[in-house]
Amino acid sequence: MSRKRILTGITTTGTPHLGNYVGAIRPAIADSHNTDVEAFFFLADLHALIKCHEPERIHQSTKEIAATWLALGLDTNKAVFYRQSDVPEITELCWILTCQAAKGLLNRAHAYKAAVDQNMAEGEDPDHAITMGLFCYPILMAADILMFNATHVPVGKDQTQHLEMARDIAQRFNFHFGETFVLPETVVQENADVLLGLDGRKMSKSYNNTIPLFLEEKALQKHINKIVTNLQEPGEPKNPDDSTVFQIWKAFATPEQTEEMRQKFAAGIGWGQAKKELCALINEEIRDARERYNALMAQPEQIEAVLQAGAAKARAYAAPLLAKVRRAVGLYSLG
Ligand code: TRP
Repeated sequence: MSRKRILTGITTTGTPHLGNYVGAIRPAIADSHNTDVEAFFFLADLHALIKCHEPERIHQSTKEIAATWLALGLDTNKAVFYRQSDVPEITELCWILTCQAAKGLLNRAHAYKAAVDQNMAEGEDPDHAITMGLFCYPILMAADILMFNATHVPVGKDQTQHLEMARDIAQRFNFHFGETFVLPETVVQENADVLLGLDGRKMSKSYNNTIPLFLEEKALQKHINKIVTNLQEPGEPKNPDDSTVFQIWKAFATPEQTEEMRQKFAAGIGWGQAKKELCALINEEIRDARERYNALMAQPEQIEAVLQAGAAKARAYAAPLLAKVRRAVGLYSLG
């Protein structure tokens, strides 16, 4: 068993944007075509409940994210693609792990500590508006990972502490109850979150500066036109390396196209023209996927069928391991 098993989750609270595509979705789908790896990708809708209390938004986001991955060519015959809440083994494992996880470990979680610090700074009670969901979130994430004995977990930098906690919890369990879980390795995605947004900060839902991935061409051009630039006129040589337009160009262009655009910047291409060319380039890459996306969004029952098949596959992996875990902790038949 030396095959790599990668697993990652996508929290279902937003609409996929160009930053998600370049930083996470495009590389993950490429990975899924690699026959040396087994890939598990899931919609982390139970995680969405932690941050989002708007049912409509969670439902819509789940549909959009699933349609996006399918439209972009995720091969669901190879990859296991499922919705977290369709796999009850995960939540059961989560409770069993909760009974192993040290509270002191979770006290140190960055997300929880940041919420406490903010409350203190605002003169509130330290635990003001902090739910047990937020506090226990790293245990749910550990259950997501350990349930499938994932060997490699690609995540953004902000998630590395959660991976350490998952390893810690797995080790504790193994020590007490015998070898049960694989200790997962973190694969930090250096390129995740690198794409810049409309205002030049990193493209992120929380900054409200995103360009949604599957806009129709006209709307895409409108968004791209909003990218903040300096006030240089057409004809003035421009520095590509401090330009958001160029940075996004690079993420979609071949090396030759990147070099060509660099020369156009030096020759003083106008911002309007550069943005037109950027829109055409992105549109070219996503046009076919966008058609598939629109078709899927119009037929959500097709998406649902794919997710149900994915859940059945996922449960076939999860059930035997959960049976082993139950037995290890003393939950099994009296007969
Ligand atoms: N917490 C992750 C994030 O916010 C999403 C996630 C949930 C995840 N469960 C996971 C990622 C398991 C990797 C493995 O990005």
